[in-house]
Amino acid sequence: MRITDQVARGAALTIFVDGEPIGGFAGETVAAVMTAAGRRRFRIDAHGCARGLYCNMGTCCECMVRLDDGRGIAVRACLLPAEEGLRIATGQPLS
Ligand code: FES
Repeated sequence: MRITDQVARGAALTIFVDGEPIGGFAGETVAAVMTAAGRRRFRIDAHGCARGLYCNMGTCCECMVRLDDGRGIAVRACLLPAEEGLRIATGQPLS
């Protein structure tokens, strides 16, 4: 879901969430791209429960995702700018 009227957007880009290509725009966060695509699960907690976007301002850490780039760094999706080709993993519990 995105506002479409009277909105200027950056260049189109594609990120990959659990290997699935998802379209977004430069200037959006990873959380915005995922939410606009209907992706609500951002991670799995220690009890196996899905967690997702909550504060959308970097405070709660509910939106943590892992960079799927071999380093596996956990980052807050609501603060991470979407970049062309960025790979995100959501299916593993964060330790
Ligand atoms: S949603 Fe709270 S830190 Fe990202």
